[in-house]
Amino acid sequence: EQIMRGNFDHFMLKEIFEQPDSLVSTMRGRFQASTRTVHLGGLRERLADILRSSRLIFVGCGTSYNAALACRHLMEQLTELPVAVELASDFLDRRCPIFRSDVCFFLSQSGETADTLDALRYAKQRNALTVGVVNVVGSAIARLTDCGVHLNAGCEIGVASTKVYTSQIVAMVMIGLLLSADRLSKAARRAEIMDGLARLPEQVRRVLQMDDVLRDIACTQLCRATSILLFGRGFHYATCLEAALKIKEVSYVHTEGIHAGELKHGPLALVDEEMPIVLFAMRDDCYDKVKNALQQVLARGGSHRMIVVCCEGDEDEFRRAGVSTVLAVPPAVDCLQVVLGIIPMQLIAYHMAVARGLNVDQPRNLAKSVTVQ
Ligand code: G6P
Repeated sequence: EQIMRGNFDHFMLKEIFEQPDSLVSTMRGRFQASTRTVHLGGLRERLADILRSSRLIFVGCGTSYNAALACRHLMEQLTELPVAVELASDFLDRRCPIFRSDVCFFLSQSGETADTLDALRYAKQRNALTVGVVNVVGSAIARLTDCGVHLNAGCEIGVASTKVYTSQIVAMVMIGLLLSADRLSKAARRAEIMDGLARLPEQVRRVLQMDDVLRDIACTQLCRATSILLFGRGFHYATCLEAALKIKEVSYVHTEGIHAGELKHGPLALVDEEMPIVLFAMRDDCYDKVKNALQQVLARGGSHRMIVVCCEGDEDEFRRAGVSTVLAVPPAVDCLQVVLGIIPMQLIAYHMAVARGLNVDQPRNLAKSVTVQ
């Protein structure tokens, strides 16, 4: 086991640091920056059918669900189709109405998650076209779906999924690019995203260099907290949910990812001078609204223990506003900024768990793959 972990103390840390390479693997042979082209061999034969569909449905559990949520907005923009994102368990509980004109995407690291697999069987019975977005080759979901994309992120051992989350996002972005390849009206947007994909691994490398600072924040500001709130909206609503999931999974600290648009509808009542708060304030269409949320939080005394994750260049603005801790990541195109936004939080979750003396790679009560319902 130690040989597999290499120089890292835990698989989770190793897998976080593998992300510049795992993202390159996910893109290898599929995305070519110089010609700005995307080829996904696993979808080629069903591409025309996917393009004829009337609705896309993304299904997953845990981190895979959050990855689906992170890509919904982009997929709506690029395909102009309605996109639903479903927790596999809830999809089954509701016996969600499915039509043969639907295309259902099943996102899964293991390809064996019981609820996701059952949701796939359910969709197949109703003659929807099924697409797997799976890491483990030969897994049940990979075999049962009509077509699909393997993530090629490499083996993930830590129970808390890290590198697979970012590979799922990149795979879904490539699917969106492929589905919009013939749309002239999307050409500029597609070009911007493809240029962003080419820069992404290097930007991830730069975020990983923040590790010492993040360890410090985890150990001094967060590891003794009893509760942490994370706010964001737009693309970063998913980042909030995924960051909250990472922290609670490995550090057992209660965390909640909250849509910043919902602040006034309840969560503001939790804000006081003691509550640690993380706010994702990146340069996208929601930037002004997120800054407004920040003002609302600051007005309730929530500045001492406030962490803002923003784009490089914007740090001073937040410091001037009174935010105590500002974490700046390289700016990227909005739909890829989520990759750069989650990595500091993966590292914070990891360092909190280590500081609390917990079993990072195998948290209590959790399993890497949940194969029973
Ligand atoms: C378990 C794991 C999570 C994972 C979820 C879905 O809960 O602990 O890390 O996100 O299952 O797993 P899948 O293999 O379908 O992505």
